[in-house]
Amino acid sequence: MMGDRGRKCLFPVAGMGTRFLPATKEIPKEMLPLIDKPIIQYGVEEAVRSGCVEIVFVTGRGKRAIEDHFDRSIELEQLLLEKGKADCARIVKEISEMADFAYVRQPEPLGLGHAVLCGEPFCRGEPFGVILPDDVMISPPGSPPVLEQLFLVHDRMGGSVVALEEVPLEEAGRYGMIKGELVEKGLFRIEDLVEKPGPGGVPSRYAVMGRYVLSPTIFRHLKSSAAGAGDEIQLTDALKVLAKDEPLWGVLYEGERFDCGTIENWLKATLGMALEREDLRDIVFCELKRLGVLVGGDGAAVSEDGNVRSS
Ligand code: G1P
Repeated sequence: MMGDRGRKCLFPVAGMGTRFLPATKEIPKEMLPLIDKPIIQYGVEEAVRSGCVEIVFVTGRGKRAIEDHFDRSIELEQLLLEKGKADCARIVKEISEMADFAYVRQPEPLGLGHAVLCGEPFCRGEPFGVILPDDVMISPPGSPPVLEQLFLVHDRMGGSVVALEEVPLEEAGRYGMIKGELVEKGLFRIEDLVEKPGPGGVPSRYAVMGRYVLSPTIFRHLKSSAAGAGDEIQLTDALKVLAKDEPLWGVLYEGERFDCGTIENWLKATLGMALEREDLRDIVFCELKRLGVLVGGDGAAVSEDGNVRSS
């Protein structure tokens, strides 16, 4: 158990975001908006709702906007109050009060495993969460946030925990893939992992998605990890070694994942989230109808591929 000290969560955010250039020339990709919040804020809110009181960002050059976003902005708050916009001032202030924020630099882009290792000074001694913020996870109403689902398994079973999702075989080469034994509904004991396997080497259909609860012994394994796939220090390789001496669990998480790491998926995420918001849903449908993409009356909207959605 984590005790009363509260949990910590590490966010690797040093990546370049080249897929979104020129939008990310000056703005970190994590600060691109998903509706009305930067992508990174969804992850931070998930961590906070999962009991994390300290957020550690592993940053790189050009990421100062993330620091500024989670810091107080006294001048802006004051200005908003003077203009009678107390609600906006409160929203701005609450961002900085969500948790304690710490920053550490990853001096070179040496991979996810290396990024986690950079966070060691803040996370040693106790299990900690890791969120890859490109994957925005929305849990169903009444279910705990996805990171909390992992912490609950850790509290019950000990060891380290990763989030799993079943993916089509042709997508396995994009993820860390596990080999494991199903020990109860939705829970695997992981025996082995392969990072981005080739077509012949896929051990199962279960892929690691961007949520982890890691035992601090991971740092020892990361330090002795040689560069793996893509010439980077892979978290997957350290987990593979860790699984030999400590339990490593894989949870089929409950929730919807919006992958915001590519323009195509970010666009889908934006649309998907807009459709889930009562105040935006009709705007999307009306606009698509206006553009002639959707046709239909009597409350039904028909998309080009013939799928019918009620509006
Ligand atoms: C990373 C991990 C991989 C995991 C994936 C989830 O890969 O290395 O094991 O499946 O995140 O998004 P990346 O997406 O950084 O290439």
